[in-house]
Parts: sequence; C-alpha cells; structure tokens
Amino acid sequence: MKMKLIFRLPLFLLLLLLLQCAEQMSGVTIESDPAVSRDGVIQTELEKVVSLLCLPGNRSEAEAEAEAEAELVWLRNDQLVRLTEENRKDQSRVCVTPVIYDDNGANFTCFLSGNDTVRASVVLNVTFPPQLSGSEQVLVEDMDDLVLRCDIWANPAISSVLWTLNGTAVDLTAGRFTRTNDGFSSWLSTSGVKRSLHEGTYQCTVVSSMYGEHSKSFHVTVTEKTIKFPLMPMIAGLVVVCLTTILAVLSRWHKIVKCVKSCRK
Ligand SMILES: *[C@@H]1O[C@H](CO)[C@@H](O)[C@H](O)[C@H]1NC(C)=O
Ligand SMILES: *[C@@H]1O[C@H](CO)[C@@H](O)[C@H](O)[C@H]1NC(C)=O
Ligand SMILES: *[C@@H]1O[C@H](CO)[C@@H](O)[C@H](O)[C@H]1NC(C)=O
Ligand SMILES: *[C@@H]1O[C@H](CO)[C@@H](O)[C@H](O)[C@H]1NC(C)=O
Ligand SMILES: *[C@@H]1O[C@H](CO)[C@@H](O)[C@H](O)[C@H]1NC(C)=O
Repeated sequence: MKMKLIFRLPLFLLLLLLLQCAEQMSGVTIESDPAVSRDGVIQTELEKVVSLLCLPGNRSEAEAEAEAEAELVWLRNDQLVRLTEENRKDQSRVCVTPVIYDDNGANFTCFLSGNDTVRASVVLNVTFPPQLSGSEQVLVEDMDDLVLRCDIWANPAISSVLWTLNGTAVDLTAGRFTRTNDGFSSWLSTSGVKRSLHEGTYQCTVVSSMYGEHSKSFHVTVTEKTIKFPLMPMIAGLVVVCLTTILAVLSRWHKIVKCVKSCRK
C-alpha cells in the first residue's frame, strides 16, 4: 500500500509539470543576437547587425495539428515584414542590417497567423554618439545677428551643453546671449553683434555617459557693415521690364504677320 503511493506521487508530479510546461511553451518565443534583456530590449548601435529568430513554442498535439497550416508573422511597429515563403514555417528569421537611427525604439513582434493572441515582442535600443566635431569659420557683420548651433542628438540623451567663449563659460548677460535647446540642437544666439563683445572662439561641449566628451568650435569674426543692394526688388523690376517687352513684341507680331499675308495676296 505504502509502496504504491510512493510510486504514484512522482508520476502525478511529472504529469503536473508536463502540463505546466505545455502551457508555458505554447505560443512563440524570440531568440536574438545580440541577446534580448529580461525586459525585452535589445541593445545595439548604428551600423551593427541584429538577428531575430522566431520559434513556435512546444505545443500539445491537438494545438500542433490546428497550427500546422499556420505561418509565422513578423510585425515591425505594427507593419507587416515581408518574408520569403520558406521563412514562415517552423521558424522565421529577420535581420536588421545595418542598424539605422530609425531602428531606435522599433518594436518587432512575432506571432502565428490565425492566433495573434500569443505574441512575442522585442524593442531595439540603438545607442549613438552626438555628431559634434571639428570647427567652423563664421563671419558676421557688425550689428547683425549671430546664431551658433550644435547638434546634440544622441542616445543616451545629452543632459547638458557647455558653451565657452575664448575658453571661459559664455557670460549670457554680458554678451546678451540666449541659449535654447530642443533635445536635437543647442543654439547660442545674440543680436546686434559688437566686435569687442562677440568676436572670438566659441565652443560647445557635451558629455555622453556612453561615448564621452564631444565638442565643436566656431571662429567668429565680426566684419565692417557693408551697404547691401536691394537685390530682390531689382530682380523683380527686371522681370517686369522683360515681360512687358515680350508682350509688346508678341502683339506686334500679329500685325506684322497679317501685313505680310496681305502683301502676298
Ligand atoms: C520542447 O519539448 C522537448 C521535448 O518535450 C524539449 O526537449 C525541448 O527542450 C522543448 N523546447 C523548449 C523550447 O522548451
Ligand atoms: C510591441 O508591439 C506589440 C504589438 O503591437 C505590443 O503588444 C507590445 O506591447 C509592444 N511592446 C512595446 C514595448 O511597446
Ligand atoms: C490561441 O492560443 C492560446 C494559447 O495557446 C489559446 O488559449 C487560444 O484559445 C488560441 N486562440 C485561438 C483563436 O486559436
Ligand atoms: C538605451 O540604452 C542606454 C544605454 O544603456 C540607456 O541609457 C537608455 O536608458 C536605454 N533606453 C531605453 C529606452 O531603454
Ligand atoms: C577672444 O580672443 C581673441 C583673440 O585673442 C580676441 O581678439 C577677442 O577680443 C577675444 N574676445 C572676447 C570677447 O574677449
């Protein structure tokens, strides 16, 4: 009697485990290179390659039969990914190559056609440094506006930008500067430029937690004010004159042709 119980118990447990397994394994799973983190994010960088593999999980026989005709479907941000015929059965591979800016935050979802209640999805996190380097020569006329721009768009995002003039932090009030930042660019601007206040070497510097320090410099020269010709009104005037001449010739042309014709008669 006791012996029987001992034998039965493991069998019962085994069945229970198998049932649980079947439940967990139904649906689909995504394997990836580089590996996906526990929260479903794949870390990658520009120009790299991400390989995704969708596998239907272990199913019960009944389920497997029902799904024998089913095909694997991939969505990228809710848009169907085109797959070759042989890439839809049993398993399905999608390659993101090369990784571009637009892939940052892209959501790849896989499921079996006919049952999209069980989905697996991963999100790409594409990290990239800010495009900030080199130097630029800037000429600005006395009393004109000066606008300097630095592209600071990066992932992870840049939290602060340092602007310097001749090596020391820009004095916003002394130079009547305004600073703006929209997450993509940082601007330093001022109007009514004066040589004594605004000429010099400017630099914007950012520090990325992942890619380190990046900076760009601007060599600003303030030039004498020149008298500007009113170019646009001049062009407009010339166009009017030309058009009137052409119209005049055209209307005459009629008369000339008529005249020639009547002469021939
Ligand atoms: C599916 O089941 C088989 C046998 O039951 C097992 O060997 C395999 O590891 C299972 N696959 C997964 C992905 O769990
Ligand atoms: C990815 O897309 C799927 C399907 O539209 C959705 O169920 C899932 O919540 C999305 N995941 C994230 C992290 O946005
Ligand atoms: C889809 O699959 C789930 C899990 O295997 C199952 O519970 C559900 O009934 C299926 N739905 C359809 C429409 O087949
Ligand atoms: C992407 O990865 C970077 C670097 O690990 C991290 O700082 C950032 O928070 C991640 N972003 C998302 C949306 O997961
Ligand atoms: C910055 O340095 C240059 C060259 O030494 C100098 O000509 C200019 O006046 C300086 N600018 C300011 C605002 O001090």
